[in-house]
Amino acid sequence: MTAQQSRTADADSETDAILSVQDLRKSFGGITAVDGVSFEIEPGSITGLIGPNGAGKSTTFNLISGAYTPDSGTIVFDGTDITGYRPDRVATRGLVRSFQIARELPEMSVLENVMLAPQHQLGETLYRSVLPGFRSGVETQERELRERAWETLEFFEIDHLATENAGNLSGGQRKLLEMARVLMTDPEMILLDEPLAGVNPTLEQKLIERLHELKADGYTFLFVEHDMDIVMNNCDPIIVMHQGQKLAEGAPETIKEDDRVLEAYLGGEVEQ
Ligand SMILES: Nc1ncnc2c1ncn2[C@@H]1O[C@H](COP(=O)(O)OP(=O)(O)O)[C@@H](O)[C@H]1O
Ligand SMILES: [Mg+2]
Repeated sequence: MTAQQSRTADADSETDAILSVQDLRKSFGGITAVDGVSFEIEPGSITGLIGPNGAGKSTTFNLISGAYTPDSGTIVFDGTDITGYRPDRVATRGLVRSFQIARELPEMSVLENVMLAPQHQLGETLYRSVLPGFRSGVETQERELRERAWETLEFFEIDHLATENAGNLSGGQRKLLEMARVLMTDPEMILLDEPLAGVNPTLEQKLIERLHELKADGYTFLFVEHDMDIVMNNCDPIIVMHQGQKLAEGAPETIKEDDRVLEAYLGGEVEQ
């Protein structure tokens, strides 16, 4: 693609992108982990972010979620330049990275963990709503929070575990709890970094079905996953990173047939 075409494409999608990353760079000492990456994410998509180990995927997530500050480049979410925002401020805007939010408290019940998630992710704003209320307003808030927590547990089919200590859940059940906690923070877009690692096939299927339902409801996902079948069957479009750069971007069928992508995964030389 020529620079002219690239600019035109950017201009076309600029109006409806929910997330726009432009020329993002981040180095650690001598290693350039992210080397001038640009992409745009359409609202309501499950966009895959793939690439061999060390390609820069997690660093890209850390930059978007505010865990790292970029050396240069810009991150615009929902029309707001969030470059350099701290993670809690990014989350308050509606862009939440799962599997990085405060870990569940193993000694507390599943229900309590879900009810506390907004406080953990978003700061003190909702804290009072989970304290025993002295005023009726606080009691109403707590009841609403509790109802939403139950609905969210039912959605992920872990409501039968509500009174169980979170520490007793299986690895897969904890992933479902994690997703439930993310949803309680009321996000618009969710960054998923290998959410299916260690999840058994039954729960994996359940989680993927939930992702598609949430997508249909208008949620947006950026999804790092190493299982190529899962990516090809569930993500569209797919962005491929290699050595800190964006190597390719497109529909699964296109990415599947891209020789450069194949070479990158096989560790071969890649023509720039
Ligand atoms: N905090 C860090 N300090 C030093 N080097 C890092 C750090 N984070 C990532 N890197 C390096 O940046 C490169 C990209 O890593 P990463 O983003 O984790 O890739 P991926 O998630 O695609 O496997 C790697 O060479 C990695 O060693
Ligand atoms: Mg990684």
